[in-house]
Amino acid sequence: MNSPIWYPYAQMKNLAAPLEVESASGVHLHLKDGRTLIDSISSWWCKIHGYNHPEITQVAKDQLDTLEHVMLGGLTHQPAQKLADKLVEITPEGLNHVFFADSGSVGVEVSLKMTLQYWINQDRPEKKKIATLTRSYHGDTLGCMSVCDPFNSMHKAFSHILMPQLFLDTPTSGFEANQIQLEKEIDELNRFIKNHHHELAGFIVEPIIQSVGNFNFYSPEYLQAIHNTCKENEVLLIFDEIATGFGRTGKWFAANHASITPDIMVLGKGLTAGYFGHSATLATSKVFEAFWGNEDKLAFMHGPTFMGNATVCAVALKGIEIFERENYLDKIAHIEDSLKSYLLDLQSDKIHSTRVLGAVGVIQVKDSHSLEGLQDFAADRGVWLRPFDHVVYTAPPYIINDESLEKIALTMREWFIK
Ligand SMILES: Cc1ncc(COP(=O)(O)O)c(C=O)c1O
Repeated sequence: MNSPIWYPYAQMKNLAAPLEVESASGVHLHLKDGRTLIDSISSWWCKIHGYNHPEITQVAKDQLDTLEHVMLGGLTHQPAQKLADKLVEITPEGLNHVFFADSGSVGVEVSLKMTLQYWINQDRPEKKKIATLTRSYHGDTLGCMSVCDPFNSMHKAFSHILMPQLFLDTPTSGFEANQIQLEKEIDELNRFIKNHHHELAGFIVEPIIQSVGNFNFYSPEYLQAIHNTCKENEVLLIFDEIATGFGRTGKWFAANHASITPDIMVLGKGLTAGYFGHSATLATSKVFEAFWGNEDKLAFMHGPTFMGNATVCAVALKGIEIFERENYLDKIAHIEDSLKSYLLDLQSDKIHSTRVLGAVGVIQVKDSHSLEGLQDFAADRGVWLRPFDHVVYTAPPYIINDESLEKIALTMREWFIK
């Protein structure tokens, strides 16, 4: 394709012309060619309230008229302060400090840098590696790339350049884990952390759902075990909740499935209702206090220009207000029940497995070639689906109605039962 826009995750030479979106409202994308598509994946998971939500759009306009942006260096403002207070209130108990940044990847970079400096500040520089699970995805900047799966990921070619990190085989025992397999996986986890704790600064995971890693789901018991072993072995635990946060797994945060508080948690995507890129990296007082003192060298030397942007914060606050007021967790439970009824019994010789959790429904195939053509097939039926690797999935906006959800699910089914 010939375009000055360099499109993401694509070989530009072979790229088919992207569909041009002229406007969007609710769960619908209105295309230039006259078609309307239901966005079944919430624009990479972020449009949890759908498009052009009247209240959120209004708040953005009002904030633009008052104070669109101001630096947080030496200055502050109400929207950032209120959002920080709100995030401390809704996230697991103990995450009392909030660092804003301008995208999910930068939020993960902040979490890694915070983790490394936590140990530097305590004169433990030997603790300088980060552990993670295979199949992890944490973003596309260099620090993030170093904690993405080194074998299967799109960043494989960089493995000789990236910071060397430590990878543990991800659990495959599932959300409702097979206990025998789970016990073995937890033993391996404990062994791994014990063997490496002296060099480990932190352990970063996508809790419960590894999205880009073919939507591997794992259990709250395993998450709990990660938490326990990190605590026992002086390893900071980082939850990357950029994709899982704000209800996607059926709870406010995936951490809530195991009732635990990580040392650091990164939020993005749904945080800003999908209106603007932003992230919040939250830390416990234990982490924060390692940066507190009379010496300047203890300070966290980081400060993205657009951190805590006033318009972003006003939008995020409104989104959270609506999430609470409209009982989104009930809506998500309803989406989960519906997706289960449509997808779990689906059988075809092409299908490896199906699974549903919260507002995520996944069909994993045996051979990725069997998904070729599915994107166009769905678009012709009025649904925006974007299969990748071995999965086709839906992660719809929470405002979706039964009719639209059925249309998504039936389109996914129809591809396999033609
Ligand atoms: C788990 C996870 N971490 C980090 C990121 C990176 O976020 P962003 O695309 O906002 O940089 C993503 C994006 O898909 C993600 O799913």
